[in-house]
Amino acid sequence: MTFSAVQSEIRPVQWNGHACVLIDQTVLPGIYRTIEIRTSDQMATAIRTMIVRGAPAIGVAAAFGMVLGWQEAPQGDPITHLERVAATLRATRPTAVNLFWAIDRMLTVARRDPSFARLEREATAILEGDIATCRAIGEHGLLALPATPERLRLLTHCNAGALATAGYGTALGVVRSAHREGRLERVYADETRPRLQGARLTAWELVHERIPVTVLADTMAAHVIGRGLVDAVVVGADRIAANGDTANKIGTCGVAIIAKHYGVPFFVAAPWSTVDCNLPSGDQIPIEQRDSEEMRTIEGVALCPQDVEFYNPAFDVTPAPLITGIIVESGVYAPGELAAAGQAQLGR
Ligand code: MRU
Repeated sequence: MTFSAVQSEIRPVQWNGHACVLIDQTVLPGIYRTIEIRTSDQMATAIRTMIVRGAPAIGVAAAFGMVLGWQEAPQGDPITHLERVAATLRATRPTAVNLFWAIDRMLTVARRDPSFARLEREATAILEGDIATCRAIGEHGLLALPATPERLRLLTHCNAGALATAGYGTALGVVRSAHREGRLERVYADETRPRLQGARLTAWELVHERIPVTVLADTMAAHVIGRGLVDAVVVGADRIAANGDTANKIGTCGVAIIAKHYGVPFFVAAPWSTVDCNLPSGDQIPIEQRDSEEMRTIEGVALCPQDVEFYNPAFDVTPAPLITGIIVESGVYAPGELAAAGQAQLGR
């Protein structure tokens, strides 16, 4: 099955009334297939194994995991069962705060109005709200990009696109908006070792929409930025602390350091649901450690000796002073303005 034969807009998480349909992101770009998730345990596995991935997308998926959990609840005490499902979903991936945000939102609604219809409505609202949020991020980001007479060359890391959200994307939302307005020349996509989200997923999305994209090995960013080939860097985020320190895919911090060195603006694009004002700084953000097999092999082919040791943190934290602006759905803020803006927006 090819993607374009199926639909034109990328929707990684969909609900069909009784099950959740996920695009299997572990096999793209070679194979396009969807998987029907019918139980909350299946959803937890899908999040852990990265069939669905990207901070906002796993929040949306977890919300539907809670709907599935409700369907499984025994008569009598559905809330206790739902709390158990919430604990299972929370234990899947620790860094992206959208996961916890969505689960908490679903639990709050369930306690107030314990019904399947209400939970289904809330999960759908989270999904649709995320698409609208990404479009707003795209519009605000467009205004923040450097005003150059020539079309822009943007560099991104990992995949913060439609696949990583309910649709449209955060960093790639900015890219899509710039492309639509005729302001984009090209995207440089870091391949993003070890799981290659840039090479596999960002490149797939952009090729699908005929947006010019050049894939770089991660080691090439300094050369390309140093040669003046990049006007701005735009990345997504998994959790942003109150002071603006930002956790995103491993390698992001290195790109930010390079951008700072060469005087290239570095933007983070994310919804407010990625901002964790409970954490004063990035030091408190939990960093997921993943299996060393992700580094030892590619497509089952060993790259290193069997007995070598690996260190595989999935995310790093970019310190706020390296960030030019944080693009959210309500505007663009300097990292130091974020906490006050968050309080004004969300009362938190
Ligand atoms: O490990 P992943 O693929 O879930 O990591 C994804 C990222 O780091 C993205 O950049 C981030 O979630 C932002 S998604 C809009």
